[in-house]
Amino acid sequence: MTKILSSLRHKHGGDYDHVMTNRAWVDLEKEDFRGMLINLVGYRFGPCPEEKLEDIRQDRAIYAARFIRMAGVRPGDVVLDLGSGCGFGTAAIAQHAGRVIACDISPAYLEFARSECAALDNVQFHLISRHDLSPVEDQSVDTVISMAVFIHLNLYDIYLYFEEIRRVLKTGGKVLIDFANMNRLFSRIPNRDQDRQFLAHAGFYRDNPGALAGLVQWNSARGIRGVAHELGFRFVKRRGHKLLFRL
Ligand SMILES: C[S@@+](CC[C@H](N)C(=O)[O-])C[C@H]1O[C@@H](n2cnc3c(N)ncnc32)[C@H](O)[C@@H]1O
Repeated sequence: MTKILSSLRHKHGGDYDHVMTNRAWVDLEKEDFRGMLINLVGYRFGPCPEEKLEDIRQDRAIYAARFIRMAGVRPGDVVLDLGSGCGFGTAAIAQHAGRVIACDISPAYLEFARSECAALDNVQFHLISRHDLSPVEDQSVDTVISMAVFIHLNLYDIYLYFEEIRRVLKTGGKVLIDFANMNRLFSRIPNRDQDRQFLAHAGFYRDNPGALAGLVQWNSARGIRGVAHELGFRFVKRRGHKLLFRL
């Protein structure tokens, strides 16, 4: 693990402040544009992702398109984008839905997303606290889409969010999330990127336990299905790391 950490530090110039501190989401400063993008996409776009903004925008739009398709979003739908980040996916959803309610716990991300979606008149933004969707009315949402957010939540968080989601969803409404699959870690069919990520995050956690909220939380589909079922959600289908439920 130490070898992996030092090779990551060497490769990226040692700039690990964003994951080594508590600034992962809530305390992230809006001026820390690089930190925001690294938290969003890791180092897939190199150590200076701000120079690859258009590529990142497209990458997130392509990822969002998969969610939009799998959730079957229709033109009149009200979609809650939970953990909207920079708003790249939000903008893609807004092109297919009637209205998008974008929520995030991070003021910095919300401000970015607001300007990203400034030209769209069917998106509204809300700053929320963890597990608390109180700005969203009861039974007002057709579909909840949450991309690359539940990968950062533990099973208690997931339970508490599903409880809130149950309140805001219309009967028959859908929830589509992605998650980090603990059952594929170090498996016989190796996924080396995932294994390396696990080891790197274990190191970040060792060096600063307070960074946990910004690290990947490993869960199982079975565990998530269990808590969702407990709250009255029906599992509809799985595609890779994406799970679709219906109320
Ligand atoms: C990796 S980014 C993904 C952003 C966007 N959904 C995307 O796919 O491009 C994770 C986002 O989730 C937000 N987030 C993290 N923990 C959260 C929580 N407990 N509740 C709501 N949002 C959260 C972060 O502030 C950040 O905007």
